[in-house]
Amino acid sequence: MVRYTVTSALPYANGPIHAGHLAGAYLPADIFVRYLRLKGEEVIYICGTDEHGTPITFRALKEGKSPREIVDYYHEHIKTTFERAKISFDYFGRTELPVHYRISQEFFLKALENGHLVKKIKKQAYCEHDKMFLPDRYVIGTCPYCGAENQRGDQCEVCGHPLTPEELINPRCNLCGSPITFKDSAHYYIKMQNFEATLKDWIQKQEHWKPNVRNTVLGWIEEGLEERAITRDLNWGIPVPLEDEDVRGKVLYVWFEAPIGYVSITVEHFKRLGREEEWKKFWLDLDGQTKIIHFIGKDNIPFHAIFWPAFLLAYGRHEDGRWLLPYDIPANEYLNLEGRKFSTSRNWAIWVHEFLDAFPADYLRYYLTAIMPETRDSDFSFADFKVKINEELVNNLGNFVHRALTFVNRYFDGVVPERGELDDLDRQAFGEIQKAFEETGALIAQYRFKDALKRVMELAIFGNRYFDYQKPWKTAKTDRERTATTINVSLQIVKALGVLLEPFLPDASEKIWHLLNIEELRKWEFREIKAGHRVRRAEILFRKVTDEDIIAYIVGYIGKGNPESARLLLEKYYKKEDVVKIARERLGDEADSVLRKIYGGKIEAVDKSGKKEAEKMGYVKFDEFMKLDLRVGKIVEVSDHPNANKLYVVKVDLGDEVRQLVAGLKKYYSKDELLNHYVIVITNLEPKKLRGVESQGMLLAADDGKNVALLMPDKEVKLGARIR
Ligand code: MF3
Ligand code: ZN
Repeated sequence: MVRYTVTSALPYANGPIHAGHLAGAYLPADIFVRYLRLKGEEVIYICGTDEHGTPITFRALKEGKSPREIVDYYHEHIKTTFERAKISFDYFGRTELPVHYRISQEFFLKALENGHLVKKIKKQAYCEHDKMFLPDRYVIGTCPYCGAENQRGDQCEVCGHPLTPEELINPRCNLCGSPITFKDSAHYYIKMQNFEATLKDWIQKQEHWKPNVRNTVLGWIEEGLEERAITRDLNWGIPVPLEDEDVRGKVLYVWFEAPIGYVSITVEHFKRLGREEEWKKFWLDLDGQTKIIHFIGKDNIPFHAIFWPAFLLAYGRHEDGRWLLPYDIPANEYLNLEGRKFSTSRNWAIWVHEFLDAFPADYLRYYLTAIMPETRDSDFSFADFKVKINEELVNNLGNFVHRALTFVNRYFDGVVPERGELDDLDRQAFGEIQKAFEETGALIAQYRFKDALKRVMELAIFGNRYFDYQKPWKTAKTDRERTATTINVSLQIVKALGVLLEPFLPDASEKIWHLLNIEELRKWEFREIKAGHRVRRAEILFRKVTDEDIIAYIVGYIGKGNPESARLLLEKYYKKEDVVKIARERLGDEADSVLRKIYGGKIEAVDKSGKKEAEKMGYVKFDEFMKLDLRVGKIVEVSDHPNANKLYVVKVDLGDEVRQLVAGLKKYYSKDELLNHYVIVITNLEPKKLRGVESQGMLLAADDGKNVALLMPDKEVKLGARIR
């Protein structure tokens, strides 16, 4: 059986993760490995932070911290963010691990031993004031091609021309501003030409690669491969493992050692499990069964398709077996935000840790998969996000699951009924389930995650159509056997969705499993839910995304980082007065100071007269009253609110479903008094998070200013009975 080694590009530990990173290299890999695990395949999923090189030292200088402080901080930050996004690495390591130093140095020494490295002395930019060699990006000067000033020594940002520090007019040190000199410096170069023929031959055979990746890479090789320095003059990184005076204090080039991190992090993973030898079968060719798959963003293609394989070849044979070359390198394109490139400096970005404060992980995963930049750049838009979540997740998927569970509770006491005779549509439903597994699996295996998710949602669409057509609410009065069949079949579809959704929406899948009250492990195959099995009461799977949520997010997060970007986003969709009103409601005291920055000082004071108007009592029309859905319920669970000492979190049984409500009753009732208490609930009040816990409605109580008393019916009525 095939064994899979799956990796995602090691993110630099120099800043938080944004939605473009997630959609590019992490979410696709996670969907892929979750699918393989459901299929029972042997797979490890490895990642970690890339903690060396100028991206780190640059950031450290900017923040006035040491590189170590930077990598320690962002390693934890990134790790936590991925956990919150439910990216299911088997191990998330880092290139600061001692084992990574050891293995990287071993790669260097092996390549040297095998004659693939050569030492050369070349002129390098040097700052006499700072007493250090300067990496390209640390040198600034005037671009010789377009005359733009203050350009960095790697590329001109104005005309786009690639540059070297030598070419710059009036080159200066970007740290201290003094003019630079050029001094001889010795470095080790890998003779890439040694691998040209082997790489070309190998890549030509990789017919399963995306054609554009394969062709681009072949094109580069065609141009000829040249020697390339794999050491650097930098005081942060992995020391060059030689006594050689010429390279004293120098470090390995970050792009030489980072990919070795995939291996060293695997070694660390198995060491921690106490199975020290096991990493070998994931990286060496021991039995012809292992496939290594690197998920990356498109800018990483040359490093993974040419340099990394060359480093593996340069090592030569490992004492326990031949190093495996990558089997595939699925690379994604870029994600834009509202039609413009993500920009960290302008905070034109969706930072994953912030977005997950405001919206559930499943929403981000759903949307990013739906717009995944698989074949071309794609666009994150708030309007589109809202539509996709509300119409697809809430109205289609959530609605179907809710209907099936409500009906089995309403008509069959929560017990899966026996099926009667099947009609054509019932039979079609079983066919649809089977097809959904096959087709979704095939699409995932081809890295077509967007289409795969669409395919799963088609089963939910079918489920809703099936339900509408069979009309169990009608047949319930006339034909119990027909109703039983409909509900049974619907629950089979729900169960299939519980499995099919797992790679994409792990939290929703978990909830469906909980509602179905199933203990068995999820597997990528259709196994029926048996008649006689008791399921739980329906619960709401997803709530709608509102404009209020979006406004609160843009003002509270993007606005705090960069008011100008927030203003651009808000102006695209909303009127200033609505933004002001909503931001005040949702963000409280801090709203005004952010709003003032966003709108340049001019925002109206709170309108007191408007408030009074609303307080004036007027008549309510009967149909307005009837809009309130008031129902009888019974409290079945009471617990303390985790973040508020006046609140309880209670679960109320409404007959067909159980709702979670947050209630300020602690002062007036003990938990024991509340348990099994009958209550009246407004069930269609807009759900709201109270101190981080969602309340899906409200309990009615009388309040005289001193005491609070819950309302309840004065004789026995069915749970779910309507109040009018
Ligand atoms: N840190 C690099 C980036 O963010 C990716 C490194 S991938 C690895 O572009 F293979 F080198 F680990
Ligand atoms: Zn300097």
